[in-house]
Amino acid sequence: MKVLGIETSCDETAAAVVDATGVLADVVHTQDVHIAYGGVVPELASRAHVEKLGAVVQAALARAGIERPDAVAATSGPGLIGALLVGLSWAKGLAAAWDVPLIGVNHLEGHLLAPLIDEPGFEWPFLALVVSGGHTTVYLAESLGRYKVLGETVDDAAGEAYDKVARLLGLGYPGGPIIDRLAASGDPSAIAFPRPLKGSLDMSFSGLKTAVRTWVQRHDGPVPVEDVCASFQAAVVDVLTDRLLLASRQTGVTRAVLAGGVAANSGLRRRLAETDALRVLVPPLSRCTDNGAMIAHAGRLHLLRGERSGLELAATPAWRL
Ligand code: KG4
Ligand code: ZN
Repeated sequence: MKVLGIETSCDETAAAVVDATGVLADVVHTQDVHIAYGGVVPELASRAHVEKLGAVVQAALARAGIERPDAVAATSGPGLIGALLVGLSWAKGLAAAWDVPLIGVNHLEGHLLAPLIDEPGFEWPFLALVVSGGHTTVYLAESLGRYKVLGETVDDAAGEAYDKVARLLGLGYPGGPIIDRLAASGDPSAIAFPRPLKGSLDMSFSGLKTAVRTWVQRHDGPVPVEDVCASFQAAVVDVLTDRLLLASRQTGVTRAVLAGGVAANSGLRRRLAETDALRVLVPPLSRCTDNGAMIAHAGRLHLLRGERSGLELAATPAWRL
């Protein structure tokens, strides 16, 4: 079964085709209209999806060498309501016109399952650290469709903290990749930023962001940007690693996957790959940030179980996994 996956929940316009052999095409267009604003402007995102999605879908079908797929999967939440509606409406139109099944996919499930695209034999149950611009959660993935939240951020998501710290340092948007790059030439122990853990398996990133702001404001002379980035990144990586290891000790599960846009972070990837207590599946960079392949893949697994969505399927901006 060849499945077309459509992803438009935020600022990537993406489409991909997958089948039993893997990913046949994966086309991602990252919108650049938001750079000037230092963050995603929802209405501009919706409009840019409308302008680009047709070409992105066409390119994915052409690259996969097909005229029509056997089913259509689309992100139906969580995400920006207008942005979701563009992809979902498109998917409904295509499914109706081609007379093929439609399935709505949870964006977070797409992220969580993305590492398995290239490792289909990875065994369940496993822990999943899903870290993106909007979410930072440790799940116990018991089986397809059964995910238990073990811990999550009580305030900002890790990616959001990256973006906010980059903004206060005047570095540009999105902040994650920029800070990651600058951190490589800084000293991670230069500044002792807090590692804010919360009871049970929760965590917090808003206090860390404030600590960076306060440090920068109180600092005399030119700000050592590389050292600030490296020290901030060390704190984020420590918190995320601590939570995942504690989840492993509490559940006895020693397999884990890393997923979401912040999974592209080189410091986090390195640390988790080195962790002896856990076998962490760290996916290729292209599977971390938003893409259509993860939606097509998750949708395909549900379709194979006989699940379908009707054309009345609604966008769910705050859909929890
Ligand atoms: O999953 P994603 O592409 O979109 C959401 O669903 O939110 O994640 C985007 C987030 C942004 O906050 C971005 O700054 C962050 O992922 N990010 C990174 C890196 N690459 C992207 N954060 C840290 N290090 C990176 N290399
Ligand atoms: Zn995402």
